[in-house]
Amino acid sequence: MSTTLIKEKIGQAAADYIDPFLTLESIIGVGTGSTANCFIDSLAQVRHRFAGAVASSAATEERLRAHQIPVVSLNDAGRLAVYVDGADEIDPNFSMIKGGGAALTREKIVAAASDTFVCIADATKAVACLGQFPLPVEVIPMARSLIARQLAAIGGSPVWREGTITDNGNVILDVHDLTIRDPKQLEFEINQWPGVVTCGLFAARGADILLINEGDSILVKKRP
Ligand code: A5P
Repeated sequence: MSTTLIKEKIGQAAADYIDPFLTLESIIGVGTGSTANCFIDSLAQVRHRFAGAVASSAATEERLRAHQIPVVSLNDAGRLAVYVDGADEIDPNFSMIKGGGAALTREKIVAAASDTFVCIADATKAVACLGQFPLPVEVIPMARSLIARQLAAIGGSPVWREGTITDNGNVILDVHDLTIRDPKQLEFEINQWPGVVTCGLFAARGADILLINEGDSILVKKRP
């Protein structure tokens, strides 16, 4: 089965998985990326069963609206029962690297506002140790060089994602060559540097549930 078909199947599985969470008042958190897009397409078929969605990016907001799914501001939504989003890497403890699509900050905010984080990922995203995928870091533009030097000082090789401006008006540094032994500790460390908005480690708030393919089957895994 092609990766596109697998992502469609995972998107449908996610819509099925969250079905018991839905009431006519429910507002769902929706992530960003190609797998999340498949989820949105499946969600559209049950749009009459919930009230609306909080989008983690402008791109997701646009796709939700195209499907006539009402988009709700997080400030109006309050706490969300469930957030569904993809990942660039996920480890056995369900810590993740995210931000390949530059939406990491809003994704982290929506994840923090949600009781259950459902990660949807194809099997290529499962890794024993995070860090093969370059770690995205969202940075205030004037701090780009300062933060790049600090990332180099901890052993990383930061590369400015030139041409990319986030939905928040900031820039992205993609950090190669990091050895991530303790994702939570590294997330806290980088996030404390003045000029960093957030880094793409989702370890302090990882996923609770993982929907992932094994061959053509979709497995539902709970965080160990
Ligand atoms: C967006 O910024 C990312 O965090 C995405 O969730 C991640 O890149 C996964 O995207 P795909 O589903 O397209 O692989």
